[in-house]
Amino acid sequence: MANAFVLLENTEDQTVLHLSPPESGLVLRGRIRVPGDKSISHRALMLGALAQGTTEIEGLLVGEDPQSTANCFRQMGVTISPLNPEHVVVVGLGLGELQEPRMPLDAGNSGTTLRLMLGILASHGGRFFVVTGDDSLRSRPMSRVVKPLQAMGAQIWGRQDNSLAPLAVQGQTLKPIHYQSPIASAQVKSCVLLAGLMTPGRTTVTEPHLSRDHSERMLRAFGAEIEVDRATCSVTVTGPATLTGQKVVVPGDISSAAFWLVAASIVPGSELVIENVGVNPTRIGILEALERMNADIERLNEREVAGEPVADLRVRYAPLKACEISGDIIPRLIDEVPILAVAAAFAAGTTVIKDAAELRVKESDRLAVMAAQLTEMGAQVIEHPDGLEITGGSPLKGAKLDSYTDHRIAMSLAIAATVATGTTTIAHAEAASISYPNFFETLKQVCQAQ
Ligand code: S3P
Repeated sequence: MANAFVLLENTEDQTVLHLSPPESGLVLRGRIRVPGDKSISHRALMLGALAQGTTEIEGLLVGEDPQSTANCFRQMGVTISPLNPEHVVVVGLGLGELQEPRMPLDAGNSGTTLRLMLGILASHGGRFFVVTGDDSLRSRPMSRVVKPLQAMGAQIWGRQDNSLAPLAVQGQTLKPIHYQSPIASAQVKSCVLLAGLMTPGRTTVTEPHLSRDHSERMLRAFGAEIEVDRATCSVTVTGPATLTGQKVVVPGDISSAAFWLVAASIVPGSELVIENVGVNPTRIGILEALERMNADIERLNEREVAGEPVADLRVRYAPLKACEISGDIIPRLIDEVPILAVAAAFAAGTTVIKDAAELRVKESDRLAVMAAQLTEMGAQVIEHPDGLEITGGSPLKGAKLDSYTDHRIAMSLAIAATVATGTTTIAHAEAASISYPNFFETLKQVCQAQ
């Protein structure tokens, strides 16, 4: 049977992926689309919920993370139609009008849901909220958003000095601040800006490097007064704002396209076109890094759709060479480091990834997990506190691997397994559906035996 090299085995509590590429090898060919951008999908649902009137969303990611966002806001009285990629309708309640939920709000695996929502809840005067998440999210640091919110006067309680979910929030009228964030994090920036929406006065966030700017773009489109100072990486919102429902078109997620960009770059003879990918300058670190590594990627049909730059990406196999990835590019490719580590294992020379300690507090410790799993496959990897050093060229062999329930690890390892010799099994492969529900179908679709 065609493409029987990818098999998913459902057990009682997880899905195990079995991947056995044919001995003759594979090539990747075709024209594909990737699901909607996860960051933009969350923001469209949230701003739609806070706006007056109706928001219509085209291209939304129907993955588990946006489902968590939609469910939380439904619990607070917002009407959101069943999620589908064609058309979602959000009937907003208007700023400050969320209802007190009778049950804890469950953000599941989604850090973006929990951190952005905290800014919204903390500024909803007179209401009490409890927010929580899955095992992974309950161990991720929340103090990075709790601290600036407390500086605005927010009342938040939780384990370990109010830093771990579950968190309890007593909504308040907050006071504006100028927050100097020690990390370049769009979640921190967006949380504070969302808290600033209902706070009278100017709330400013300054970050050390520019992080993704989807919140700024979308807040402005919904009618908020937003000032951006690129030179100092600062954004200011003036509250109280009024948001009006909009039509949002969500482009394909470059973080999902990244798996195919790397896969086609490392498999000789491959050529893929990925249509309709968001190429916002704050997100294209992966393109810049792969181009530095000698990848052959063309941006076709560049256009702007609903305030976000979009292009089709053509990628062809090219022999990769090592490079250094560090400094201000890191926030622009933060979610792509696991798949870049796979690219590095196929690049001539030693690739050095630095300044990426943030990866240790993502859905899993992505530095430790990628180092251990790629080593298991025979790659040469040295783990550092803030990065990885990967010497390419050792052939990868099939191995028994685990995604540690991290979606981006599951998909990165699946791409590594596609180019390895022999059979690989990946435990907890179901994690892919957090951000890319059809990933394995697309893998089967684009891979052809040589
Ligand atoms: C996101 C910001 C990033 C990213 C995450 C999504 C967002 O996190 O890793 O997947 O939508 O704002 P940080 O803000 O923690 O860097």
